[in-house]
Formats: sequence, structure tokens, C-alpha cells
Amino acid sequence: MFILVFIIVFGDLVYETRALCPASSFTNPDSGICYWYNPSLVTATACNTSCVLNGGIIGEIPDENSQLFLMQHFQSVGVTGGIWVGVNDIDAELNFRTWDGYPQSYFNWRLGQPNGYPLDAGATEQDCMAMFTTDNFRWQDKPCGDNYMCLCSYRSCKLKIIIAI
Ligand SMILES: *[C@@H]1O[C@H](CO)[C@@H](O)[C@H](O)[C@H]1NC(C)=O
Repeated sequence: MFILVFIIVFGDLVYETRALCPASSFTNPDSGICYWYNPSLVTATACNTSCVLNGGIIGEIPDENSQLFLMQHFQSVGVTGGIWVGVNDIDAELNFRTWDGYPQSYFNWRLGQPNGYPLDAGATEQDCMAMFTTDNFRWQDKPCGDNYMCLCSYRSCKLKIIIAI
């Protein structure tokens, strides 16, 4: 009973102090989404696992503002290479979704991308998206087993922590 009252009275306080953004993450002030990345090169599958483990998903880029925010961040810290983007079409070709299953409507494709259709002769299935710093951060679809840097995102509104007090 005391715990229940505590949660009701101090729930907001707890919410604030248990913000999900991990240490050394950086937050887009416009969207409130915070990002964290690991420069080690990993598969999209491994990236997903590590993001989910810490309460996030592979980095969401819901709109152009988010794309520009990330570009500026990675340029300012001098990161170079490919970075997994939180979009895949694993379940159905060209049905692009975030890694927690929501439809994706924003894209920053390189010209000619996406090009990984399994029905194209000789094509490799490419169900996971990455952006490339050396290509003005444009996106390509890539095999999920390729190795790129891992970007995770976190939203404080997805907190499930109140019960855990
Ligand atoms: C992402 O990782 C979680 C946790 O390991 C797993 O349950 C989920 O199936 C993974 N998603 C995909 C699309 O592989």
C-alpha cells in the first residue's frame, strides 16, 4: 500500500530521474529522441540486440529534422563510415518499418536505392538500411548481416519503469 501511494505521489519525480537516455547519449531537442552509437562494426541483427537490451531500438530517423540533426552530430565528432538506420523491410519487401514495427515514411535514399529485391536476378536480399557519411549520409538497403556502426535511439515516453521502483 505504501509503495502504491509512493508511486502515485512521486511517479512523476521517478519518471524524471529514470530518464532512459544512456550516459554519453545525445538528444535532439526538437524530437526529444536521444541517440547513442557504438563505432564498432556489427550486423544489424547484433545492433538490434544491443539497442533492445538497453531499452532502445536501432536509431529512429522519423523526419528530415532528425536526419539533419544526426548528420551534424556525426560530422562534428568526425565519425566516418556506414551507420545502421532504424528502418527495415524484413517482414515484406518495400514495406519499410522501424525496428519496433511502425511504418516509416521518411527516407534519405541514395539515387538508385533501395535496390535489394530478392526477385532481381543475382541480387542479394537487402532488408536493413544504413546511411553513409561519405555519401552525404544518404541511405542504402544492405544485407542485415553486413557490418556497420550501431546507432540506437531512446524515447523517454516509452518508459516502463514505474512498476520497477
Ligand atoms: C530485436 O531484438 C530483440 C531482442 O533480442 C528480439 O526479440 C527481436 O526479435 C529482434 N528483432 C528483429 C527484427 O530481429
